[in-house]
Amino acid sequence: MEVKEAILRRRSVRSFKEKDVPRELLEDIMESVRMAPSASNRQDWQFVLVDDSATREKLARAASNQNFVKEAPVVVAGINTEMKMMSCGVKAGTVDLAIAMDHLTLRAAEEGLGTCWIGAFDQEKTKEILSVPEDSKVITLMPLGYPTYDLTKENKRRKALEEIINYNSFE
Ligand SMILES: Cc1cc2nc3c(=O)[nH]c(=O)nc-3n(C[C@H](O)[C@H](O)[C@H](O)COP(=O)(O)O)c2cc1C
Repeated sequence: MEVKEAILRRRSVRSFKEKDVPRELLEDIMESVRMAPSASNRQDWQFVLVDDSATREKLARAASNQNFVKEAPVVVAGINTEMKMMSCGVKAGTVDLAIAMDHLTLRAAEEGLGTCWIGAFDQEKTKEILSVPEDSKVITLMPLGYPTYDLTKENKRRKALEEIINYNSFE
């Protein structure tokens, strides 16, 4: 599948089959995460792959009771382990994790798997559940599994290109 096709297929999936993701496939997808770029190639990240159902249940509760989080056979927690500010005033870890997790979403789409970026979760509760050290930060929880429906190209509700691009100057 071409990258463009995977981009068009990827959508936020909030309903998963009771079907495990084979560990070999999961680790193959994580290989694509590992290849993501990061600021100064620091790779200040850790990923906790949660396949234990009791832990997934706790995570769903910490994520404002978004129940589909526990339905997915795996929840990937993307964690930033060193807080570094880039000279542009943007936090490197947040950007790095976003890129890495997007590699995950696109590889997952290529394999017919669904994902959903979860940003609505309680940071402290989530850290406690996953035994994340105090000075690290969970950037996202990402359920991963087989969707209950086919991933097909769909019309995405997006702003028109003319609304978001300008040549040479913001205005
Ligand atoms: C930073 C971020 C946080 C998000 N948090 C949640 C969330 O907590 N729960 C949820 O159901 N979707 C969440 N989403 C998914 C968005 O709602 C979704 O990406 C958007 O509506 C576009 O739809 P699509 O992903 O299907 O293209 C989040 C997405 C991003 C990028």
